[in-house]
Amino acid sequence: MNDLTPQSDMLDPIEIASRDEITDLQTRRLSRTLRHAYDNSPFFRARFDAEGVHPDDFRSLADLSKFPFTVKQDLRDSYPFGMFAVPRERLVRLHGSSGTTGKPTVVGYTARDISTWADLVARSIRAAGGRPGDMLHNAYGYGLFTGGLGAHYGAERLGCTVVPMSGGMTERQVTLMQDFRPDIIMVTPSYMLSILDEFRRQGLDPRQSSLKVGIFGAEPWTNAMRAEIEEAFDMHAVDIYGLSEVMGPGVAQECVETKDGLHVWEDHFYPEIIDPVSGAVLPDGELGELVFTTLTKEGLPMVRYRTRDLTRLLPGTARAMRRIEKITGRSDDMIILRGVNVFPTQVEEQILKVAGLAAHFQIELTRAGRMDAMVIHAEATPAHCSEEARQASARALAHHVKSVIGVSARIEVRDPGAVPRSEGKAMRVLDNRPK
Ligand code: DLL
Repeated sequence: MNDLTPQSDMLDPIEIASRDEITDLQTRRLSRTLRHAYDNSPFFRARFDAEGVHPDDFRSLADLSKFPFTVKQDLRDSYPFGMFAVPRERLVRLHGSSGTTGKPTVVGYTARDISTWADLVARSIRAAGGRPGDMLHNAYGYGLFTGGLGAHYGAERLGCTVVPMSGGMTERQVTLMQDFRPDIIMVTPSYMLSILDEFRRQGLDPRQSSLKVGIFGAEPWTNAMRAEIEEAFDMHAVDIYGLSEVMGPGVAQECVETKDGLHVWEDHFYPEIIDPVSGAVLPDGELGELVFTTLTKEGLPMVRYRTRDLTRLLPGTARAMRRIEKITGRSDDMIILRGVNVFPTQVEEQILKVAGLAAHFQIELTRAGRMDAMVIHAEATPAHCSEEARQASARALAHHVKSVIGVSARIEVRDPGAVPRSEGKAMRVLDNRPK
């Protein structure tokens, strides 16, 4: 794998600014954002008034904790346009979530918001090792989901040649990758595994593909999965994070030269880590729920948005801006099985330790009597699919899950190809417990 560290003269000045310069910029921008939210968004004005806080109460970064949190339900309650801070006519784009759990949510962007977003995704792709002139295969879904168009505009802004594939039609994805020879792929890590299967199905050696870098996000994935993908394709695999309520992809990005967590683009987003139960702000280094306040957004400024994502804040390394540790999971995805907290990423790590198992999996929750039970649907690799090999893999996985995670799970080692494939965000947990 090539060294893709960018030269310092390629970086935005703020990427190499001092902590004082960053704090100073954040303080000014936070003050402006709180004022903009209060003056122009009926939702935020009502919320601040109800809490008895006013933008004038903000003088330094520590004052932010006086302001109320915003949660996903607030977006649902103000659906569709109740939270926006500009007249609808000034929005040039809407994105939204599918609303699998309850009402959908809608977010909106002014022309300047779209431009800022493109700048930040361009910065992210450069941090991942991308350069102007590179060809970028974009397999994030285009549409209301922010992944496709967010990546697309950023790649164009950097000066890449974009192949706007979207998700699906996996056979065609691989054919075009062979024909066009892209340098970079942007896709969810779970869909990358489907693409890997397709390479092998077509009898192609993925290590001979043209790809130098994969920029993977939109769902949790582990360092074990990074190692698996890097080895399979002989390329760098780096992490990109974001969420539609705050912007979309490009809120934080891992640098290819360090691969040590994701630098938050702190000139546009102010991160906090809170105790998810008490809401208290935790010091850097402690594990908790990630909260963001936007610093430059016009259409939909966001004040202290609770992401439900669990991570910790770490000091900057490759860039001055602080990092978040690779996200272990969302508080919503946490399974509580007979009193033990289990995240799908923990199961992923254990599966990747077993040589006879592919990286595809699903967790099924069932209930027998009053007892919850977990079934892990794993998949045999073609080279290990005899009955004997499967039993050995199942035993090994059950042992790792019990000894590392601390729960007993039933393991089903299914045929190669039998676990449902993802074309976007993977569905890791099937909850079949009676309601
Ligand atoms: O998933 C935006 C995105 C698109 C990010 C493409 C990266 C690449 P939403 O659909 O609003 O937006 O979902 C946001 O996805 O709160 C996390 O729970 C999860 N997520 C996003 N990136 C990561 C990541 C897009 N790198 C939600 N690691 C977030 C773990 C991630 N989870």
